[in-house]
Amino acid sequence: MAHGMNADASFPLRPTASPTPADVRADRLANPGFGRVFTDHMAIAHYTEGRGWHDLAIAPRQALTVDPACAVLHYAQEIFEGLKAYRTPDGGVQLFRTEANARRFQKSAERLAMPQLPVEMFVESCRALVLNERDWIPEIDGGSLYLRPFMIATETFLGVKPSSEYIYMVIASSVGAYFKGGAPAVSIWASENYTRAAPGGTGAAKCGGNYAASLIAQAEAIRQGCDQVVFLDAVERKYIEELGGMNVFFVFDDGSIATPPLSDTILAGITRDSLITLARARGIEVREERYSLDQWRADAATGRLVEAFACGTAAVVTPISMVKARSGDFQIGSGAPGQVTIALREALVAIQNGRAPDPHHWVEKLA
Ligand code: PLP
Ligand code: COI
Repeated sequence: MAHGMNADASFPLRPTASPTPADVRADRLANPGFGRVFTDHMAIAHYTEGRGWHDLAIAPRQALTVDPACAVLHYAQEIFEGLKAYRTPDGGVQLFRTEANARRFQKSAERLAMPQLPVEMFVESCRALVLNERDWIPEIDGGSLYLRPFMIATETFLGVKPSSEYIYMVIASSVGAYFKGGAPAVSIWASENYTRAAPGGTGAAKCGGNYAASLIAQAEAIRQGCDQVVFLDAVERKYIEELGGMNVFFVFDDGSIATPPLSDTILAGITRDSLITLARARGIEVREERYSLDQWRADAATGRLVEAFACGTAAVVTPISMVKARSGDFQIGSGAPGQVTIALREALVAIQNGRAPDPHHWVEKLA
């Protein structure tokens, strides 16, 4: 795919003429939930084949006008990212591993036959937007500014081919906990009939289509009284892959932890990678190995498996209390959050919030 040709990665500000009044904003930030409260501005850049990236800006957040034949509406040529900006104890603001998201965005773009956004342009769009919208970080426990960079195919053409035009945007949402009421632990439904991703497919890319395909299984999970769905591998229908929007870890009675190995059917979570690093630094043995639903159930019954948790930018680290499946339900440990899960969560969150040193150079303080 063509590379961006724009040398200048800066996003100049075109401020909104009608900023949200401070009291209205304070009201919205009191209990924001996840993904419903949006800031006044967005980052935007346009791509045209032969010209590269152009017209970069931090602009007023507004509706898009697209032709009904716009490529993304028909063939779903779309990718996205998710990362957060955190308020630090000194009243500053910082980003966490933005370059890792930028590189994953490039991998997703490659898989979806889209142009590459230079890493510097991705990082700069996030920096510029966060600096401009820093008043939107809720001061509640666990509050942050969730950034949603995404790219859509905008050519007006119904032929099936990579678009010649794209728009890249970053919107920002003031968020608290992803799960309703900041759930202390979640129950998950193991989907034995739907799969999320197959070898050779798009599972390792963060494209909207993966989530569209997961919705029916997630809806089934809700009908079963569960919070989230976990998918099995598409070939043997045996091995745990990941949740609809989170990776998964298992904690054993010998103190070791395990997570499914990366492949082209699993999203390489940046939280997953960070937790592996933090766990190893604490002397915890971490294995990346396949683990079947049957083994999970058997190990939960014998007590060899003592904890399990889901992890991702939105969910941070969320303990799993219970697994339901057609082939039989089982509880994880006592059903309460486990000590390894809590310790890893604390270690990660302390770095993200600037309350602990950052030995791995993951945070970038912006102000
Ligand atoms: N797996 C899926 C399918 C996801 O959507 C996400 C969320 O981004 C993750 C895993 C976790 O990735 P990360 O930790 O980079 O947020
Ligand atoms: C994220 O954690 O950033 C995601 O994209 C997951 C989604 C369930 C919100």
